[in-house]
Amino acid sequence: MSRSARTASAYHRLTGYRRGRLTPHALDWAHQPRPRKPYPQLARIPFPTDLSMPEMDYADLVCQAGQSVPAPQTDLDLNTLAALFHLTHAVTARSMHGDQPFYYRSIASAGALYPFEMYLAVHDVQGVAAGVYHYDLFDFALTRLREGAVPLTPSSARRVAATIYISGIFFRSAWKYRGRAYRYVLLDAGHLLENLRLALTALGLGFCVHTDFDDARVAALLGLDEGREGGLVCVHLFSSEGGKGRLAPVADPSPLPNDIRDASRVSAREVTYTEIQEIHRAGYGPAPTATGRERQPVSPGWHPRTWIDLPPSSPAGHTDYARLLWQRRSRRNFVSQSISMDHLAAFLDPMATSVAGTCMPTGEIVAIGLLAGAGTPVAPGAYLFDPHGRRLGQLAGGAMLESMARACLDQMWLKNAAFHLLFVSDPKALDQAWGARGYRYAMLEAGRLGQQAYLAATALGWGACGIGAIYDREAADLLGLTRDGALLYLVGIGPLKGR
Ligand SMILES: Cc1cc2nc3c(=O)[nH]c(=O)nc-3n(C[C@H](O)[C@H](O)[C@H](O)COP(=O)(O)O)c2cc1C
Repeated sequence: MSRSARTASAYHRLTGYRRGRLTPHALDWAHQPRPRKPYPQLARIPFPTDLSMPEMDYADLVCQAGQSVPAPQTDLDLNTLAALFHLTHAVTARSMHGDQPFYYRSIASAGALYPFEMYLAVHDVQGVAAGVYHYDLFDFALTRLREGAVPLTPSSARRVAATIYISGIFFRSAWKYRGRAYRYVLLDAGHLLENLRLALTALGLGFCVHTDFDDARVAALLGLDEGREGGLVCVHLFSSEGGKGRLAPVADPSPLPNDIRDASRVSAREVTYTEIQEIHRAGYGPAPTATGRERQPVSPGWHPRTWIDLPPSSPAGHTDYARLLWQRRSRRNFVSQSISMDHLAAFLDPMATSVAGTCMPTGEIVAIGLLAGAGTPVAPGAYLFDPHGRRLGQLAGGAMLESMARACLDQMWLKNAAFHLLFVSDPKALDQAWGARGYRYAMLEAGRLGQQAYLAATALGWGACGIGAIYDREAADLLGLTRDGALLYLVGIGPLKGR
């Protein structure tokens, strides 16, 4: 069998975990990746810290974010940008690791390794000079990488005030997860993207998400070392109604100096994992255009026999969205306790609206499943969630949480969750429709929905924990997936002890 990881299916297979076949990997603590990109010589614009946060109910916001993107109501300026970055990616907790402080973020991340970075290209923003900036989370500032007008990348027919880029630094995650890390870099970036989408909606900013773009051009614009860091998502922020017409074309800028490129290096001793290089490069855009037939939802071979309609849900009361972001944490202390049908529906509603607000160019490429435990209002078993019909289709009956906990590298606490939310796809079908880039789309989407699952659970006072450690084939077999089907990501959800 070929060792090349140049397709979604090959990469997923080659980086699969198999029981009894995991090779030991001692973490090289002396060369732990830096969580922060250093740009010591460059000018910074500190963000204002007296931010006015939008006061919005989480359920209302999710509803709005699920509708087509409204015309922008807010003019971009430094204050709005500050609120936008703060609501998207912030430090939300601190703990001590030995004698070093460790900062947890508003975004879940496999191993808390936070491989993502954010950049901003300013085209037309009141009070902020045109150029390219890096978001410094720790100093809450923008570091200027380029000065002057830069080309709109990717192009847009609308007037764009600014563009936000999300990248992933591979070694931050590969330090722990080796070749499998590309999965987590994408899932984590998807988590970040969902926070960004909600923040943009809350601030009344019109936007468009692009996951298909010219990778080399984006890397050159941002000064990324392409072997170490890849651009994953571009989000154009539109000018409000006042700003008519397209921006004047600008030539591609000259390459940035080497010390800016070198900031993609995060450790003095980095290891290059061929699988990651291969799958990432094989997906370089623009991607082949999928035909209409291929835009059908990817089917993992699930055909429900009967359907259960969910009742109309009434949100449990006002839940302040910004507070929710700060409350979100991964929780594992689940307790067996019954949950009502109303609460299950209230949890699944944001998932449904999130699917409707999909920002992928692909339509639905991830199917959502649910493994119900004994405390749920439906019979224990496996279900397919139909987000459009707001219904659950029964696939198989029986208690499956314990077997799934085992398939998740024996993380047995998962059996106490009320249910497992499953994100499933078919890497071979992704290859056929979008080439290797289809893998990015599916993993970003699974991560995006995963972040929403965390927030929806937190709003109900429940816990959630994302799970990327999976014996892949064991889990797929348990779920009755086709030979090519794959469980990309799982989130354990349920009531917690002492709540
Ligand atoms: C893609 C992904 C995979 C994860 N996999 C696991 C896992 O297998 N087991 C686990 O206990 N936590 C897992 N987590 C949770 C992270 O450990 C957690 O997000 C991180 O420690 C940061 O903590 P916080 O979520 O409380 O901010 C995962 C999170 C993500 C986003």
